[in-house]
Amino acid sequence: MNFAEIISDRYKIAEILDSDDPAVAEKLYAAAYEVKKKTVGECVYLRGLVEISNICRKNCLYCGIRSGNQNVHRYEISEDEVVAAAKFAADNGYASLVIQGGERHDPAFCRKITYVLHEIMKIKPKGGEEHIGVTLSLGEQSEDVYREWFEAGAKRYLLRIEVSDRVLYGKIHPEDSLHRYDDRLQALVALKKCGYQVGTGVMIGLPFQTSLNLADDLLFFKKLDIDMCGMGPYIEHTDTPLYRYRADLFPIAKRMDLSIKMVALLRLMMPDINIAATTAMQALDSLGREKAIFAGANVLMPNITVADVRADYQIYQNKPGVGEDAALTSSGIVEYLKEKKIPIGFCQWGDSIHYRNRKV
Ligand code: 5AD
Ligand code: SF4
Repeated sequence: MNFAEIISDRYKIAEILDSDDPAVAEKLYAAAYEVKKKTVGECVYLRGLVEISNICRKNCLYCGIRSGNQNVHRYEISEDEVVAAAKFAADNGYASLVIQGGERHDPAFCRKITYVLHEIMKIKPKGGEEHIGVTLSLGEQSEDVYREWFEAGAKRYLLRIEVSDRVLYGKIHPEDSLHRYDDRLQALVALKKCGYQVGTGVMIGLPFQTSLNLADDLLFFKKLDIDMCGMGPYIEHTDTPLYRYRADLFPIAKRMDLSIKMVALLRLMMPDINIAATTAMQALDSLGREKAIFAGANVLMPNITVADVRADYQIYQNKPGVGEDAALTSSGIVEYLKEKKIPIGFCQWGDSIHYRNRKV
């Protein structure tokens, strides 16, 4: 199989995605793992994930914590709790933290993030890094806010495009001024301009989504020249408008296969970026993260959010880790990786090599 030829052609990529031949998948995964080994190495980097708040101004048609869902108990964890999570991360050999939450524009929230960033920057992780590396995932913000948070110490930002096709984007979001495809794109451009390592990603197996859409998503990542990617299977949630299309979805196994193939193809297309093995993959398949890692993923984000609010951050149902505390999730992941003989990049930021390469 000539992968160099395949990855530049949307029809050939779609053909690989559509293939049900296990031999094709095996060859793809092996090729992607080889590329991963040669470029970013075999280590998996850990980022402690803190779900700071499930309050969100948006109403995405697929998401369990959408503003229109009245069945959600809304929460926000305190500054001290975020800083305590960062200390937990440092004490447990993580040098990186992801602060994720619903999209909010209230000035108090913006100031809170700036404040916690300043506090977190004072924490010294074990090993050689001078402070904890922070990734933010807090939705679309103005360029000024992105710059304020960058200057306060955040160096990476995750903002999924969700789907790169404008028409499909319109089908899975409400048609109003809060959910504009162009604003999403603009936000990604603003993040780059501010100097962040920029991550984006998509959901896989959505209603109305075709394999050509997915092929175009990969080509979109390449064109945008992203530094990091997090993508995973779409998982239906009863309290969302898209739930009514559940009968049209691919079976779970097919959504998983597509997700792992997307990881492998992206590793071949963008050898030096960071690619996450996401929680949604684990939700559909207990071996999902391992499969992603052996197909080219090199980042894992163990949830270190305090146990009592985890059940409230259900963007999709049956999310793993509800009821666990940070220590349990964290030790579980470390044991899991050790058992699978997957080396861990303890105490290192594990920055995107692609970012470093594009800066020189
Ligand atoms: N299934 C899978 N992923 C989802 N997300 C939101 N809702 C779902 C769902 N039902 C993803 C989106 C978002 C990220 C935080 O979670 O891609 O960007
Ligand atoms: Fe809010 Fe993100 Fe859910 Fe959309 S996907 S409703 S922006 S938390």
